[in-house]
Amino acid sequence: MIPPGPRMPALAQTARFMADAPRAFESYHRRYGPIFTVRYAGFPPEVYVTTAELAEQVYRTDQSGDGRAGEARRDFLEHMVGAHSVLTLDGEPWWRHRKALNPPLRAKQVAGYQDDIAAIAAEKIATWPLGRPFGLRERVQDITLEIIIRLIFGITDAGRVRRLHALLPELIETGGSMQVAMLPERLRELSARAPFLPYSRFLRLRAEVDAILFEEIRRRRAAPGGDDVLGRLLETELGDQELRDELITMLIAGHETTATGLAWAFERLLRMPEVLRRLPDDEPYLDAVVKEVLRVRPVVYEAPRLLDAPLRLGRYEIPAGWYAGPYIPLVHRDPAAFPAPGEFRPERFLEGHQGKAWMPFGGGRRFCVGAQLALLEMRVIIREVLHRLELTAPDQAPEARRLKNVTLAPAKLTRVIARARTPARMA
Ligand code: HEM
Repeated sequence: MIPPGPRMPALAQTARFMADAPRAFESYHRRYGPIFTVRYAGFPPEVYVTTAELAEQVYRTDQSGDGRAGEARRDFLEHMVGAHSVLTLDGEPWWRHRKALNPPLRAKQVAGYQDDIAAIAAEKIATWPLGRPFGLRERVQDITLEIIIRLIFGITDAGRVRRLHALLPELIETGGSMQVAMLPERLRELSARAPFLPYSRFLRLRAEVDAILFEEIRRRRAAPGGDDVLGRLLETELGDQELRDELITMLIAGHETTATGLAWAFERLLRMPEVLRRLPDDEPYLDAVVKEVLRVRPVVYEAPRLLDAPLRLGRYEIPAGWYAGPYIPLVHRDPAAFPAPGEFRPERFLEGHQGKAWMPFGGGRRFCVGAQLALLEMRVIIREVLHRLELTAPDQAPEARRLKNVTLAPAKLTRVIARARTPARMA
């Protein structure tokens, strides 16, 4: 038996998802319970689970080899990240790459970036407008992008940093657009020959970024060392093309997600003065606030696996060839795992209640490799902003959640007004 789900045609389900994904999932959850099937036009059906226990069973397919996270992402990402990315590989090739990426991204290792992150943040915050509303999300994305360029790619030359700052957002925007990401394989070659089409623009941008990255890899091989992530990856057996693919992978997976996490943190905090008052200098509380923000507003909404074998979930059997994955926002509202799930209570993380139900970074063997860096960035950037600026929301109504690629972002990009903190207030 397969889990229940909406009966409307796949095209209508796709349209509903695009129009308002969170609302669609909440209504399916109310109607069909903790596990339901959704059908998207042109894809195998996807079974969503909404409890920590069911999610664990899906993640267990990483171990058994019956679920492929890489294959589930390949169609949307391979044109950007290449054929050698930890995001899109599975099995043995995936593990070979993951083993190379794990060490430089461990908590202990990334802790060494704390001062650099603070310095980058301070430099950027000094340029934020004062006294008029602006979208905070783009501003924090400027910081997270700079962190990737300097601390992951290890690029310090001012000219090259500037060039990448201009190119990378456009590469991601064009590469992630529907016209490019959904372009069928057979039309790609044809589209590449039409210079005015988005696909050929994407190819030009990618070629330019690749030229910079390959040049950097060559330069660094000639002069080994360095504490940045590329420096550490150069000590592994990964070849130049593999290194290029993993650098772009960390960019794609790491900078918009972290920026959106930060945007949500400020969106929430500006509506909770009692929480904001305790920040930013109480370090354990700041850490708990970041975790609670990612619980109530997880950035990535799902972590699907493409099944190679049927998967039994309770009384249901999900057929091979289908997708199965947690719908993270609802897992995070499971009252069995998070008592009073509607309340914003950072204390739950201080009391050590999180367990495996907290999954903003996914789970199983494919758990986000950049989680420790992301958490550190969030803590440090929140602290730097709050030390320098007093922020208010021009409109106190909570911002809605809007689908942006695989993330749910604040609909108004976290609109804020900033004022410089006076020294008296900082004391
Ligand atoms: C708040 C920020 C972030 C969020 C919410 C996030 C979330 C996620 C999620 C949900 C997954 C899928 C896990 C699964 O399928 O079980 C993932 C995978 C991944 N993330 Fe992150 N991520 C963030 C930041 C980062 C950063 C900073 C980096 C890199 C520096 C990064 C690199 C990756 C990579 C490479 C994968 C694929 C791992 C694999 O398949 O083995 N992420 N992330």
